[in-house]
Amino acid sequence: MRHTIDQLRARIETLEAQNRSLEAANRAKSELVASMSHELRTPLNAIIGFAEMLHDGKIGEISNAQRSAVDNIATSGRHLLQLIDEALDLAKLEAGKMELRAEPVDLSKLVSEVRDSLAPIAAKKGIRIEFGVEVLSAIADATKLKQILYNYASNALKFTPPNGRVAIRVAAEAEDRFRIDVEDTGTGIDEHDLPKLFVAFQQLDTPATKRQVGTGLGLALTKKIVEAHGGNVAVKSRPGQGSVFSAVLPRWIGAKLRATGT
Ligand SMILES: Nc1ncnc2c1ncn2[C@@H]1O[C@H](COP(=O)(O)OP(=O)(O)OP(=O)(O)O)[C@@H](O)[C@H]1O
Ligand SMILES: [Mg+2]
Repeated sequence: MRHTIDQLRARIETLEAQNRSLEAANRAKSELVASMSHELRTPLNAIIGFAEMLHDGKIGEISNAQRSAVDNIATSGRHLLQLIDEALDLAKLEAGKMELRAEPVDLSKLVSEVRDSLAPIAAKKGIRIEFGVEVLSAIADATKLKQILYNYASNALKFTPPNGRVAIRVAAEAEDRFRIDVEDTGTGIDEHDLPKLFVAFQQLDTPATKRQVGTGLGLALTKKIVEAHGGNVAVKSRPGQGSVFSAVLPRWIGAKLRATGT
């Protein structure tokens, strides 16, 4: 009996040591990604900047064919920059190095800003963006909240066929919490695919996804940001009819919150 207990204790100690070293390795990986991403941004910003100057004729006249080529360079550069930013944010969150700023947030302003930035895409697809904001203010990290809204809403627009509808709603959830719901009339998601959502680099194997540009980082990042705020994410979907992506968040976060990589 005594012998078995000692064996169990030893086994637990070994597992704990293994766990600690895995955690350290994971942190080191996240730190490497974070510093590499940072180094990649500087030259990439130069590439985008010069491509834009060429495109705008600021370095001399160029032909239409050349303008279309530099436009391509700038667009691809911006896409790559967004990808690097997302990878950097994810790595920072995993390494526990992202600090959330606690500041007063005007939620209706935030929703309008997101709607305005997506308006051109919505107009192009003939999609109506509706919004309703019941809870007007919160203490949170404004930039990060905007990212949550933007990631959900940009997906909603991406996966909704022309002439559909996307609704962004901010409403109360209990006394000290509020919820963000982004509803679309898009392709919807099969039940067996739901566990694949919110996982980094996971994109669904659907025709709609294959038609779109993306990396599969938006939802993973959103989940981490929401959880860093002390909230949680959820999704409800009906294949062929649409989806509702949600985040329930506390209305106030502490003065300074360091996101841990849980
Ligand atoms: N509103 C939605 N309707 C249907 N499928 C969705 C919706 N939102 C996300 N998905 C599915 O989940 C996958 C992951 O979404 P996520 O936002 O993480 O990545 P992405 O949009 O493909 O790329 P990124 O956000 O990095 O540009 C998508 O590729 C798509 O398959
Ligand atoms: Mg996305």
